[in-house]
Amino acid sequence: MNSSDFPMHDAEALAEAPGRVNLLGEHTDYNDGFVLPVAIAQRTRVAMRPNGSRHFTLRAQELDASVRFSFDAPPTEHFASYVFGCLALVRAEGADVPGLDITVSSQVPMGVGLSSSAALEVATLRCLRDLLRLDLDDVRVAQLAQRAEIEFAHVRCGIMDQMASSLASTDRALLIDTRSLQRQDVPLAAGSAVLVLDSGVARSLAASGYNQRRGECEEAARSIGKASLRDVQALQELDGLPDVLQRRARHVFTENARVLQAAQTTDPAAFGALMNASHASLRDDYEVSTPELDQLVALLQAQPGVYGARLTGAGFGGACVALCRADAVQQVADEVLRAYGAAGHKGRQLVPSR
Ligand code: GLA
Repeated sequence: MNSSDFPMHDAEALAEAPGRVNLLGEHTDYNDGFVLPVAIAQRTRVAMRPNGSRHFTLRAQELDASVRFSFDAPPTEHFASYVFGCLALVRAEGADVPGLDITVSSQVPMGVGLSSSAALEVATLRCLRDLLRLDLDDVRVAQLAQRAEIEFAHVRCGIMDQMASSLASTDRALLIDTRSLQRQDVPLAAGSAVLVLDSGVARSLAASGYNQRRGECEEAARSIGKASLRDVQALQELDGLPDVLQRRARHVFTENARVLQAAQTTDPAAFGALMNASHASLRDDYEVSTPELDQLVALLQAQPGVYGARLTGAGFGGACVALCRADAVQQVADEVLRAYGAAGHKGRQLVPSR
């Protein structure tokens, strides 16, 4: 056992944060728009204890990996860059950060669009907040977590995932205005439940495709003289744009409208119809779906116990989310995964976890 392999109960500070699934509002956050995520039960735990040195040792239990680094010699391993980013930002805020042994343990599935990286960042910052008695509220934690991801893991993400991990709960969705960061709880419709299935397709193009979409949105907004696509008031404003930019911007405009409508409804069927429309828009206008995601979503949508389904997260692979009748969730999952398997794919159930 090396020094970083300490049992969690020996920690001086211990914190957790959940992954999230986004019910509606995809690719809207970096356009200053609206999102509607909910936390999932799977969580990431981070434990820390000062080690009396100027070094950090980081042990990631599920990856079976240990890394040693310092502020002068940052880690090269990608997973460690999230933790390093949090340490460096807290230090830049003026905190005196001692050398630490850090252990991470996570049940949040990685690489499927459930924000394992945000859960790691938020849990790390919560742990540092406790250990160093930092004066950070939960919004500030989310903002620092997003900066860790952008500046140290080099993903130009929006703020949805970190806000969800820091502020959302599992029993109600959180409507977030990503421009003002104002929030409102949105209870799930009575008798409904969230199901998340992994398509089994790795999100290989996610980073390049994501940054490209983001660039297209920025270009579209610039071309029509708006600070961001959030400021589009009517579809006609997009008329003069080249076809691809027009479709990207149309997705953002219609998706924002769907989120606001969904947040008002208590009818699960109406909510589900908005999820179905979101998937069509992500597939046709935003072009971030894949044949496997389309197939899995179609199988879900064909089930009588399903109100609506769509891809969730950045797309290009990863998971699908469905709003189901609560009493039908397990049956839906079993039947859809069987049919998806018969079509030659290997899916799995992520939420509720089995
Ligand atoms: C990723 C990003 C988020 C958001 C979604 C797409 O999860 O981290 O900020 O942009 O993709 O909605």
